[in-house]
Amino acid sequence: MSAQLIAPTVAVHASFLAAMDEFRADGAGTVAHSSLAQELRTWGTRWPTADGFAEYVGLVGGVMDDERVDGAVPLSTRWWVDGDAYLGRVTFRHRLTPSLLTWGGHIGYGVRPGARRRGHATAMLRAALPIAHHELGIDPVLVTCDDTNTGSRRVIEACGGIFEDQRDDKLRYWIHEAAATAGQQQQRRI
Ligand SMILES: CC(C)(COP(=O)(O)OP(=O)(O)OC[C@H]1O[C@@H](n2cnc3c(N)ncnc32)[C@H](O)[C@@H]1OP(=O)(O)O)[C@@H](O)C(=O)NCCC(=O)NCCS
Repeated sequence: MSAQLIAPTVAVHASFLAAMDEFRADGAGTVAHSSLAQELRTWGTRWPTADGFAEYVGLVGGVMDDERVDGAVPLSTRWWVDGDAYLGRVTFRHRLTPSLLTWGGHIGYGVRPGARRRGHATAMLRAALPIAHHELGIDPVLVTCDDTNTGSRRVIEACGGIFEDQRDDKLRYWIHEAAATAGQQQQRRI
C-alpha cells in the first residue's frame, strides 16, 4: 500500500468530492454529533468550487478549535491519500476535556465507504500514532469506538490499543508509544 498521511491538499479535489458523495449515500450526513455530518451540511455546496475547496483546505490544514460542551481543544487533520485519490482522514485532538476523556478520545478517523475493508484504517491509524506521540507529545493516546463498531475495534486492537473500560456505549483504549513502535517494527518485518 502506498497511501500516505498528508496535510490536506487541493490536489485531490475530484477524488474528495467523489468520497463525500459516497459518505452522503452511506448516510453519514444524518449521523448525530458527527463532525463529518456538520461539514457535509456547511461545506456541501462550496466544496465543488475551486475557491470554496481551497478555503476549506486552508481551514482544515491549520489547527482548528474543536468546540466541546466542556471546552475547546486544538484539533488538526491529516488526509490518507494515494496519488490523487482521497481515501480517508484522521483528526487529532491535542488534549482531552472531561467529555473527551470519557467518550471522544484523542484521535478520530474515517475511511471513504468505497475503500473500506482493505486495511486502510489500520494503516492510517498506525501512521497517525507517531504524529500523536512525537509531534503532539501525546502518550498514551486515547482512542474510543462504539461497542457495535467491530471494524474500528479491530483497527484499535491491531494498533496496540489496551482496553481500559466501557463507558455507556464507548469502548476506551490507550495506545502507548512503546507498543505502537513495537507494532510498526513487526509490521516492517512482514
Ligand atoms: C471503521 C472504519 C474506519 C474501518 O475502516 P477500514 O478501512 O474498513 O478498516 P480495515 O480495512 O483496516 O479493517 C480492520 C479490520 O476490521 C474488519 N472490519 C472492517 N469493517 C468491518 C465491519 N463493518 N464489520 C466487521 N469487521 C470489519 C476488517 O475485516 C479487518 O479485520 P482483520 O483485523 O481481521 O484484518 C470504517 O468502516 C469507517 O470509516 N467507518 C465510519 C467512521 C467510523 O466508524 N470511524 C471510527 C470512529 S471510532
